[in-house]
Amino acid sequence: MDKIAIVTGGARGIGRGIALSLAKRGFSLALADRLEAPLAATIAEAEAMGVAAMPLLGDVSDYAWVQTAAASVVQRFGRVDVLVNNAGISQPKGLLDIDETEWDVTIDTNLKSMFSWCKAIAPGMLAQGGGRIVNISSVSANTGAGFSAVSKFAYCAAKAGVLGLTRGLAKELAPSITVNAICPGAIDTDLTRAMLEKHEESVLRSIPMGRFGTAEDIGEVAAFLATVTPNFMTGEVLDVDGGQWVN
Ligand SMILES: NC(=O)c1ccc[n+]([C@@H]2O[C@H](COP(=O)([O-])OP(=O)(O)OC[C@H]3O[C@@H](n4cnc5c(N)ncnc54)[C@H](O)[C@@H]3O)[C@@H](O)[C@H]2O)c1
Repeated sequence: MDKIAIVTGGARGIGRGIALSLAKRGFSLALADRLEAPLAATIAEAEAMGVAAMPLLGDVSDYAWVQTAAASVVQRFGRVDVLVNNAGISQPKGLLDIDETEWDVTIDTNLKSMFSWCKAIAPGMLAQGGGRIVNISSVSANTGAGFSAVSKFAYCAAKAGVLGLTRGLAKELAPSITVNAICPGAIDTDLTRAMLEKHEESVLRSIPMGRFGTAEDIGEVAAFLATVTPNFMTGEVLDVDGGQWVN
C-alpha cells in the first residue's frame, strides 16, 4: 500500500527538502503552501520522481482552511500516514518594536498551525491504527536566538511551544501515533540566506561541523523519523545543527 505524507511549507526550502526525501522513499505527497509558483514547481519535481503529489494552496495559520485542506487529502488518498509540520516564518523584531498583530501572526503561523493540522489529522491516524507526526522547531527554541539569527524572542517562544506540543501529544497519542521534533540549526534557505551571507565567518565558527546545513540534511532526518522500523521513538527532539548547540 502507498504511504501518504503531508508536508506543510513544502514549496521551497526545508519543506521541499523533506518532500523530496519522502518522494525518494515512494511516499505520495500533499504539499501545503501559500506560494503558488514554487508549490507547483515542487509538485512537478515530486511527480517526476514517480510519486503522486497534490498541492494545497492556502494559509496554514487559518484553522478553517487547514481542516478543509486535510479533508481533501483524505478524500483523494484515503488516509494520511505521516504529517510533517514544517511551515514557519521568521520574526526579526524584538520586544520594543513588535506589535500585537505581529506577535499573533508569529505564534499562529509557527505554533497554532501545528495544533490545527494535528487536530485535523490525528483522529484518522488513530482510527487507522497508526501514524507519525514530525514537527520542525529550531535551535532558537533552546538558545533564545544568537546575534546572527534572523528571528528574536517571539519566534523562539513559538518554537519552544512546538517542543511542548510535541512532548504533550507524544504522550497523548501513544502508542499508535509517534510525535517527534527536529531542531534545525543554520540551514541555507531563502529564509536565512541574506543573514548567513552577512555573518558567514562568525556563524561558521559557531558550527563545529564547519558548514551550513542543507534542506536535504533536514529532509533525510525527517524521512528517518517517518520510516524507521521498528520505531520506539516518540516525544524526542533531534538537533540537526552540525553541533552548534550541544547540550
Ligand atoms: N533555515 C533555517 O536555518 C531554519 C532553522 C531552524 C528552523 N527553521 C524552520 O524550518 C522551517 C522551514 O524554514 P525554511 O528555512 O525552509 O523557510 P522558507 O521561507 O524557505 O520556507 C518556508 C515555507 O513555508 C511556507 N509558509 C510560511 N508561512 C506559511 C503560511 N502561513 N501558510 C502556508 N505556507 C507558509 C512558505 O511559503 C515557504 O514555502 C520553518 O518552520 C523554520 O522556522 C529553519
